[in-house]
Amino acid sequence: QDREPQKSLFTDLFGIFQQQLGRLAMSGGQIDSVMQEDRQFPPSAEFQAQASIGSLAAYEKLYDESIQNPEKFWGDFAEKELHWFKPYDKVLDWQPPFAQWFVGGQTNISYNCLDKHLTTWRKNKAAIIWEGEPGEQRTITYSQLHREVCKFASALKGLGLNKGDVATIYMPMVPELAIAMLACARIGVVHSVVFGGFSAEAIADRNNDAKAKVVITADGGWRRGKLLPLKETVDVALDKSPTVEHCVVLKRAGNNPPMKSWRDRWWHDLVETASADCPAEPLDSEHPLFILYTSGSTGKPKGIRHTTAGYNLYVKKTFEWVFDHRDEDVYWCTADCGWVTGHSYIVYGPLAAGATTVMYEGAPNWPQEDRFWDIIERHRVTILYTAPTAIRAFIKWGDHHVDKHDLSSLRLLGSVGEGINPEAWMWYYNKIGGGRCPIVDTWWQTETGGIMMSPLPGAIATKPGSCTKPMPGIVPAILDENLHEVGKNQGGMLCISQPWPGMLRGLWGDDDRYVQQYWTKVPGKYLTGDNSRQDSDGYYWIMGRIDDVINVSGHRLSTIEVESALVSHPNVAEAAAVGRPDELKGQSVVVFVTLKSGEANDALKQAMKQHVRKEIGALAVPDDIRFTNSLPKTRSGKIMRRLLRDIAAGKESVQDTSTLEDYTVLAKIRGDEE
Ligand code: WT7
Repeated sequence: QDREPQKSLFTDLFGIFQQQLGRLAMSGGQIDSVMQEDRQFPPSAEFQAQASIGSLAAYEKLYDESIQNPEKFWGDFAEKELHWFKPYDKVLDWQPPFAQWFVGGQTNISYNCLDKHLTTWRKNKAAIIWEGEPGEQRTITYSQLHREVCKFASALKGLGLNKGDVATIYMPMVPELAIAMLACARIGVVHSVVFGGFSAEAIADRNNDAKAKVVITADGGWRRGKLLPLKETVDVALDKSPTVEHCVVLKRAGNNPPMKSWRDRWWHDLVETASADCPAEPLDSEHPLFILYTSGSTGKPKGIRHTTAGYNLYVKKTFEWVFDHRDEDVYWCTADCGWVTGHSYIVYGPLAAGATTVMYEGAPNWPQEDRFWDIIERHRVTILYTAPTAIRAFIKWGDHHVDKHDLSSLRLLGSVGEGINPEAWMWYYNKIGGGRCPIVDTWWQTETGGIMMSPLPGAIATKPGSCTKPMPGIVPAILDENLHEVGKNQGGMLCISQPWPGMLRGLWGDDDRYVQQYWTKVPGKYLTGDNSRQDSDGYYWIMGRIDDVINVSGHRLSTIEVESALVSHPNVAEAAAVGRPDELKGQSVVVFVTLKSGEANDALKQAMKQHVRKEIGALAVPDDIRFTNSLPKTRSGKIMRRLLRDIAAGKESVQDTSTLEDYTVLAKIRGDEE
């Protein structure tokens, strides 16, 4: 209270700088920023006192060390914090754009996540606290997890799987999903986790691209009270997956799917006779750990390839730094293991750090909209890591769901997946964090393996909507179309100038596409595909994907900024902004809006236009506002602006926008390629 921050949301920069910005935009081709967010939230003295990196100076020292001598920086951590069956000869071999880390060494991430803790007091610490959607609970200690992983790894060996083979994992969020990942890693089998919401077609595509030899699945899982018949979906996929020899099925839901005796085996039958003695295989540092398919600009998904040692070290260190992890924490990341967030910050990062990680199977609104708060209260969760799309849903569902619960155990909040609108940030901070928990807004990608930019919560004052500063070892650069670095407060393409241990090593079976996609437009730098700007304090602001930019009369507007202005209107729950071809302006702004209150009528539209005019300026005022019940999203919760662009341009015929509901379904189908 005594530090009530300055509140000036969006200053009408356009009113003042419109002409200059316009000229700059023409000459340099960078993106104009209209968002002026001045609020700052420094960590409390109390938080800083207990933090492992508890001052800006400590962060800066760490960062400087990492830049001055990256090989020493990462090498020291690798030597101290990973187990080496064979020491490496060289920290980094960089043949742009191909990096090898800890060359010549041998390690095993399953060993580093499990065996390493068994000689310490953490042996009997909870590794995973799991809750099923129907309400079952399990706590699994490191020692127990080790045993389960060893048994399942033995079972996979028994099926004839060898180092280098590929396993597709298509499972609900149950502990066996993490066990399967760790078991693969233990014996050098490369896993490819496919999100449990994807279609048979998507599974088959991924099986075929990776030449998977086994699919690990479950009979079913639970989502919003409904049973998802996973095995039946897999059966359809396997008809088109000639490389797959085995299918292992976990009994989770008891829905008795048909089993083909020549191909399908029950998990429990396999582990019953499998040995609990299965030492971790020494693997080369660059042995592939996993493939994770992600959206590309073309239809075909890209198989992002991550490897063993560098990834292991990067997710462990970033987990410890960003979440300021302490042994008494109960950490909950609400993602699904089908996404990279689940790989790096439910399974590998937390377990490598010896943390207690919570896993929840189901939906946030089952049986009620307070399920998350209920879980936090009962398990005394101290760190919550979730996504803006979830936060906006909570706001829409109403504060009374939150008010029913004691959230005093929380000490730190995280956000990931897309930019967080300042209004949603403020709600998260005040309503969930009680004004006492720092928010770490973490920017990264499937490709980057781990968090690239985020506040370190004891060191860096946060600003709503900014991912603040780079991690140690990360060197960002913002370039204009002519590949010149832009100045402060100018948007441009976000690139990374130096290799880092967690970076992707390539695309599965397609190195040309890897070079083409990430290293060609800007030679020598990793192209993230995001736009960004740095403010006068050196803070980074992500401005959305490069192709999300709306160009109005020569001014490039960032979708997130228009959306944030709309979300700050009291009636608005969520907003998606897209550009529509316009004869005069090049593009005009069309927004799709879901309401949390108020009536969807013309008066409200006018009020909202007025609001945007006030928050940003005339240029950003939408030409068209369309109310809808929900926004079409990819399976990972990203708004499908491409689809909305087509609707806005009249390419997709919809009678009225309320039928956008149907597009959610359509979007889900298309989300497979998105
Ligand atoms: C893209 C990567 C990061 C793991 C989950 C998504 C967007 C992600 C943020 C953030 C603004 C963000 C970017 C990025 N994004 N986090 N904190 N602020 N944008 O992984 O599916 O590979 O998506 O998500 O556009 O490029 P992904």
